[in-house]
Amino acid sequence: MTDSKGELTKGGGLEDDVPSDVPAGGPLVEVRDVNKHFGELHVLRDVNLTVERGEVVVVIGPSGSGKSTLCRSINRLEPIDSGSILVDGKPLPQEGRELARLRADVGMVFQSFNLFAHKTILENVTLGPVKVRRERKEEAEKYALELLDRVGIANQAQKYPAQLSGGQQQRAAIARSLAMRPKVMLFDEPTSALDPEMINEVLDVMTGLARDGMTMIVVTHEMGFARRAAQKVVFMADGQIVESNTPEEFFTNPESDRAKDFLSKIITH
Ligand SMILES: Nc1ncnc2c1ncn2[C@@H]1O[C@H](COP(=O)(O)OP(=O)(O)OP(=O)(O)O)[C@@H](O)[C@H]1O
Ligand SMILES: [Mg+2]
Repeated sequence: MTDSKGELTKGGGLEDDVPSDVPAGGPLVEVRDVNKHFGELHVLRDVNLTVERGEVVVVIGPSGSGKSTLCRSINRLEPIDSGSILVDGKPLPQEGRELARLRADVGMVFQSFNLFAHKTILENVTLGPVKVRRERKEEAEKYALELLDRVGIANQAQKYPAQLSGGQQQRAAIARSLAMRPKVMLFDEPTSALDPEMINEVLDVMTGLARDGMTMIVVTHEMGFARRAAQKVVFMADGQIVESNTPEEFFTNPESDRAKDFLSKIITH
């Protein structure tokens, strides 16, 4: 952890003389040699992952392999023990205002939608922009309505979360993240709590985002989405990235026994 700052100021390689606060043209997310433990449990083991601008990376792997922990580390919801994580060329901030800015830059959508139950959908979407980004209410509402339209629920703006279907709530959660104008979006099994008929409406929104050039890290077992939208599939097992390949190669030609075994299980059920 302590060397992450040193690494950045040194720059390294081609960017030696580029000041660290100038947005680099390099990768948007870099996870370097990251390790994390929960007590005795070594949940991330020397994880390395590079996500380019506009790239969509699908993370797949068995339960307990560390997928959520990896996502949460990138958003700094979980601290790491060693290694470094850079977003847009900068190491993750520890706390305070910088951390709030990071959370705005790195949007996150969870399996459970985490909407505020006592606020309308529109209020849910405008809250962050007004409180954190200090946008004017009218401006935030205008953009929120555009986003709600984009995810297909503009007509639900005045309702409360409990009045929406699961798929609609998840699309509201996506709009809420987008309202912060993030540089990258993390999705942790966004469709796994949804009834089958609602899964596609959420995946369609995500596919649209991918087409529009959003950089995305998506934990999902939805292979159709991976094939349609992702440039890269990363397979995790036991806290390690075991394989990283194009969706086509990964799904038709997995290299490791772990991946073959895993795929045989998700295809057949
Ligand atoms: N807060 C925590 N405290 C202790 N152990 C944890 C904590 N969070 C996760 N773990 C453990 O870390 C390991 C990795 O968990 P993680 O949630 O990242 O896996 P995952 O790949 O997302 O699994 P799933 O597919 O079930 O969501 C698991 O063994 C889990 O039990
Ligand atoms: Mg998980």
